[in-house]
Amino acid sequence: EVSLRAERREHLYKILVIGELGTGKTSIIKRYVHQFFSQHYRATIGVDFALKVLNWDTNTLIRLQLWDIAGQERFGNMTRVYYKEAVGAFIVFDVTRIATFDAVMKWKYDLNNKVHLPDGSDVPCVLLANKCDMPKEGIVNIPSQMEQFCQDNGFIGWYLTSAKDNINIEDAVKCLVSNILSKQ
Ligand code: GTP
Ligand code: MG
Repeated sequence: EVSLRAERREHLYKILVIGELGTGKTSIIKRYVHQFFSQHYRATIGVDFALKVLNWDTNTLIRLQLWDIAGQERFGNMTRVYYKEAVGAFIVFDVTRIATFDAVMKWKYDLNNKVHLPDGSDVPCVLLANKCDMPKEGIVNIPSQMEQFCQDNGFIGWYLTSAKDNINIEDAVKCLVSNILSKQ
């Protein structure tokens, strides 16, 4: 007799959320996991964690372990430890502060220098242009240039996001998770 029940799969993925101070990493995670937003800024110290359980499809359950790494950690020496065994990453910048976009490459180099997938390839990374509910500065206003930037620098995609207004966060996660799943 043929069983019609497909095999149920479960995955646990460690995902990094990195980028400069105050770009909205914690806010994006709070919005995504707890449907909550606050204007109040409290800098993350070291690293925070959140878990999101995703019913990806009827046969696939995914646990996302989100590592919310403080912006100030780029100047510390713990990122190598935090990055260990990650299978995906978001790099976040703030569309109202061009300097946070300039730092995106510094985060990307730090990431690619310190962690790889088991097969040696770079950890898939999605770029988040956050606070898109606010007036935007610079290259982020020119989608074709953003596309080029992503291609040149090994990002699998980019999204204008708002933790405040809940824009595009779920789509960005889907992009990253699809990429991770496609490698298995
Ligand atoms: P560190 O922990 O210091 O690295 O900062 P962070 O990247 O975690 O930033 P956090 O989420 O704490 O947000 C910093 C500030 O930006 C807070 O005052 C948030 O309310 C605000 N903020 C975050 N996301 C958005 C957004 O999408 N829109 C607007 N308007 N403000 C936002
Ligand atoms: Mg934070």
